[in-house]
Amino acid sequence: MKLWIPGPTEVRPSLLAECARAMIGHRSDAMSKLHERIDPHLRLAFGLAESSGSEVAVHTCSATGLMESSLHGTGCRVLCVANGSFSKRWADIAQVLGFETVVLKKAFGEAASPEEIERALVEKGPFDALTLVSNETSSGVRTPLAGVASVMRRHPNTLMLVDVVSYLAGMPIDFDAHGIDFAFAGSQKALALPPGITVFAASQRYLERVRKGQRPSYYLDAVRVLDGHRERKTPATPCIPLYFALAQQLEDISNGVTLPEGGNALRGAAAWSARYAKHERMYRATAAWAARHGLEYIPAPEHRSWTVSCIRKGPLDIVKFLAELKKRGQTISNGYGDLKDISFRIGHMGDHTEADLERLIASMDEVLLAEAAR
Ligand SMILES: Cc1ncc(COP(=O)(O)O)c(C=O)c1O
Repeated sequence: MKLWIPGPTEVRPSLLAECARAMIGHRSDAMSKLHERIDPHLRLAFGLAESSGSEVAVHTCSATGLMESSLHGTGCRVLCVANGSFSKRWADIAQVLGFETVVLKKAFGEAASPEEIERALVEKGPFDALTLVSNETSSGVRTPLAGVASVMRRHPNTLMLVDVVSYLAGMPIDFDAHGIDFAFAGSQKALALPPGITVFAASQRYLERVRKGQRPSYYLDAVRVLDGHRERKTPATPCIPLYFALAQQLEDISNGVTLPEGGNALRGAAAWSARYAKHERMYRATAAWAARHGLEYIPAPEHRSWTVSCIRKGPLDIVKFLAELKKRGQTISNGYGDLKDISFRIGHMGDHTEADLERLIASMDEVLLAEAAR
């Protein structure tokens, strides 16, 4: 069965085998070496220059934990862009934590424009932090970060916190150039690993601010986790099997191992860029398939994600469509939250190949043709 849901994504057998390695102590030299294998590649994933003062780390919890973690110590007023289920979750978390939370609400399927964000910052501010989900997995909406970054430059006291959960390793991130202060991604999306750990990056500006702030958490204190990562002393026992798999996957991506034939001579940043280009081609192939069948995307073309396509169901019976595909060994996903039963999603992220996608498209064509012949 091929798993095309927008996370968890398929995990290559060689990475599953990494998870089955003999255990090591989390305070051992072997564990320090594992951390050292991870960091340089993680910096590439976040688009950090070698000279960048921003830091990367790994935490053993799912991405929702880091949504919470990101807010501790930032201040007390937060502006949350809510344009889908996960961005709404972040706003809910801010409220639960007692933040004075202003929600910039957008319809599912839309992105907030830089102008709308600026207006909210000016009219409802000042804010200590902005939360933004760069790729809403629930609706396939990508919010271009350059425009938001140019607005944020005019609001230097507002930290820019970005969920890159289904974005990292699928599309290029320019953490420093875009002035991002905190970003995080779970392992089970475009990194194509099992769920359970989250990678993140933090700017020096963020760290200076939150070190002085109130951080009423132990396990989800990002500073404690980052300090522990830097000193190779995680605050608690990490999920070592997933660290093995993460180190291997990051090395594989940087060494071009996951690229289509011809691309695997690429190394480092060039190999990461080629991975992003593969995802863009996969999005375009999916969009061409939808257009051939008169099916429309939920997001406007300029906001479509390269990692997840969210397509309006049109005349399709979604439940039947998904069931017929399953009979052909392909699993795609129903819509999520407000978009359930009116859209379906294809997660063309992770280590799926373009040849795999051609087979999925052939299966989808077959199901639609059989339906039309009835
Ligand atoms: C964009 C986004 N943010 C956050 C999350 C939450 O991740 P987790 O369920 O791993 O905590 C998800 C999960 O799908 C997501 O897609």
